[in-house]
Amino acid sequence: MEIVRRVETLQDAKKNVKGSIGFVPTMGALHAGHLALIRRAREENDYVIVSIFVNPTQFLEGEDLESYPRREEADSRICKLAGVDLIFMPTADQIYEEDELCIGAPARRGYILEGEKRPGHFDGMLQVVMKLLNLSAATRAYFGKKDAQQLALITQMARSYFLSCEIVPCDIVRDAHGLALSSRNAYLSDEEKQRALALSRSLKRASRKVMSGERSVDRIIPEMEQVLDAVDRIEYIAIVDRNFRPREIVEIGDTIILVAAWVGKTRLIDNIWI
Ligand code: PAJ
Repeated sequence: MEIVRRVETLQDAKKNVKGSIGFVPTMGALHAGHLALIRRAREENDYVIVSIFVNPTQFLEGEDLESYPRREEADSRICKLAGVDLIFMPTADQIYEEDELCIGAPARRGYILEGEKRPGHFDGMLQVVMKLLNLSAATRAYFGKKDAQQLALITQMARSYFLSCEIVPCDIVRDAHGLALSSRNAYLSDEEKQRALALSRSLKRASRKVMSGERSVDRIIPEMEQVLDAVDRIEYIAIVDRNFRPREIVEIGDTIILVAAWVGKTRLIDNIWI
């Protein structure tokens, strides 16, 4: 496995690659959620590239850019064991120049929910993903449904900009108690971890309601709020279709229920696809 920090080295390494390239972009602090994406990329492609880059342009002023967990050595070991061919671990100066040309998130989908709470976040995310997709020359790139809105915007970008890369959505990986794995879970104390379970429990409660015949969003949301009593602050609960348009009535096969909440000083998101 090669570890590459420079763009030119990556371009050189790719010259020798034959067959399909599977690509998994990450910000590191790898966990079983990332690993599921990597495994899938390994199964479906001849060559696998993982990028590890804590992208500064997608963090807002006052967010956790500095404290975001960085674990280069552990991450490299995980990748090696998973059969990754190349890790791309650039520094910011390799990726960005001054006075950048920017891609903007779409006006509606990019500025609701996560985009409303973190204005500008998706611009920075799309900017780096566009660069990384081009650099990796990926045949397929793997993204988690955990970041559902991110996934929707990347899929839209690939379509709008006629990228040849296939965007592959991957299921959310959870721990034994249901907590969606996230690099930010590292910030949680044991007590907070317990309370953080309210997110997935509220989603489970919502999906049970739907399965037992309830379709009204107005009746599902209060049920979720009850379970979410355990968190410190609910930022949003949303029930949308796959295009992120708000729903009043749940339609099975075209609904995503999302929640964002604070537990202590940690902001968590989770969702379920119905
Ligand atoms: P990061 O948070 O490191 O996540 C990298 C990928 O792993 C994303 O596609 C994310 O949805 C997926 N992922 C994270 N937790 C998951 C889980 N529990 N189950 C399944 N997939 C999970 O998302 C980013 O980095 C960045 O925004 C990035 C796309 C790399 C651009 O900087």
